[in-house]
Amino acid sequence: MSSTYITEQNGKKMLMVGEKPFIMLAGEVHNSNSSSVEYMEQVYDKADALGLNSLLIPVTWELVEPKEGEFDFSLVDGLIAQAKRRGKKLGLLWFGAWKNAQCYYAPEWVKTDLERFKRAQVEKGKNFIRRQDFYGMPYTTLSYLCEETKQADARAFSALMRHIREIDCESQTVITVQVENETGLMASAREHSDEADTLFSSKVPQEFVIYMKLHTDTMVPDVKQAVENGAAEGTWEEVFGDCAGEIFSAYYTAAYVNTVAAAGKKEYSLPMTANCWLDKGGAPGTYPTGGPVSRMMEVWSYCAPEIDVIAPDIYVQNFLEICDEYTRRNTPLFIPECATHSYAGPREVYCIGHYHALCYSPFGFEDMGEPFSATQSYLFGVDVEDPALKTPMDVEEYRWYTRTLHEMMPLLAEKYGTSDLQAVSCERKEEDKMLFGTFGFQIALDSPVVARKDGVCLILKESEDTFYLLIHAGAFGYFSTDADRPNVDVLSFEEGHFEQGAWMMERRLNGDEVVNTMYQEPTLLKIRLFAYR
Ligand code: DGJ
Repeated sequence: MSSTYITEQNGKKMLMVGEKPFIMLAGEVHNSNSSSVEYMEQVYDKADALGLNSLLIPVTWELVEPKEGEFDFSLVDGLIAQAKRRGKKLGLLWFGAWKNAQCYYAPEWVKTDLERFKRAQVEKGKNFIRRQDFYGMPYTTLSYLCEETKQADARAFSALMRHIREIDCESQTVITVQVENETGLMASAREHSDEADTLFSSKVPQEFVIYMKLHTDTMVPDVKQAVENGAAEGTWEEVFGDCAGEIFSAYYTAAYVNTVAAAGKKEYSLPMTANCWLDKGGAPGTYPTGGPVSRMMEVWSYCAPEIDVIAPDIYVQNFLEICDEYTRRNTPLFIPECATHSYAGPREVYCIGHYHALCYSPFGFEDMGEPFSATQSYLFGVDVEDPALKTPMDVEEYRWYTRTLHEMMPLLAEKYGTSDLQAVSCERKEEDKMLFGTFGFQIALDSPVVARKDGVCLILKESEDTFYLLIHAGAFGYFSTDADRPNVDVLSFEEGHFEQGAWMMERRLNGDEVVNTMYQEPTLLKIRLFAYR
């Protein structure tokens, strides 16, 4: 039995590790680094420098099962022992049939047997194409319809999970597992093999049609319209109209992932996630189609109940809108990949304080603070007029944010799902007030005297009159919301830090320091207020 699971608290999901709440202040390693335990030592040094409490690391099908039925877990053993020794929790990323909508990590015996392990036919009769929509890039991937691939993938994943249970059940170093990586099909809304065509022109399973028709409330507008206007039964096109191709792909992709996840959970039931390469508003085929994009969430909920959380990889500039989109169905926020530019720290704070996130994890944290590579510049938005997007996150500052949140974890976790934990962000300056019963706080993150434009403020209400404020690059004021007691005094004001949930005062503040509440450096404060007439 695992004491790591997802539970519900105050109507929101919470990750429990060893029966205690745990917030993953994580980082995802570059794809190839966890292929060597030795190489990972320097990666852990960086993780320590950033104050991370957990790492997301790939475990790949090709290395776990180099020959069919012959498993080699020596690398997995080494990685888990190392994480334990270095005091970190792990989220494993199962790079099985899918990696970024392709099949890079399928073992040789899968890649070379095209008869048994069928490729997706993006165009009829073709196992391989050059993407005309993307610089002629070569493209191939395994078919989501191939039963042999699904069963082989599921067998490998279940062997992995069994092994993890055997070696790690007691210490619970591995706390989450991502099933596949960025599933979906590029360059077409659906596959076009004869088998795919036959299935596409046959009747949609009726139970699924009923489910979709009953869940239109949460759907994105065009999917909702297609489902509402579609026939009550019939072929995919009759039932789902313009969205038929994408829903077909999502149905079979999610069902595939669910089979793999179920096989793994049967051996060892850890929280399982599916990450997502976002769609950016383009047509199906311009993003991995059939993957768990927000527009396909209802399909994934139906077809993949073994997946506990759908986790968006967010590199785009409208980060907060994506977080909103992935939480609006009352689903928890779990970010396995995001950018390492200078919003990385403020966003971490905001994700915990505002969304009560289960996991926040910049991708390729190994090079946080260093000049961006060409790929990073492209992903992070070099073409956007915002200097913060072009500036690497400062390592010391990130460490401060992460360590502070980690040490506050017992308090934060207790307040998850309540309005006693709130935050405001420089990326949403219009939301500049936080209300907590008798008292409210006004936050200024765009003051001309603060040079930085990447400010953030998180406030935790400990009791009716006592608050902790984490603030950077901004100023705050406080007020009473009680018309009968409109005046407010400060009873005490302290600067300090937390150690394992306990407040450690560093300085008692008064005089000028109470008048001037403008913070150029990341600061943690404790304040007690008094309202009177
Ligand atoms: C998203 C993928 O999920 C990661 O594994 C990695 O390839 C990044 N993209 C690259 O930036």
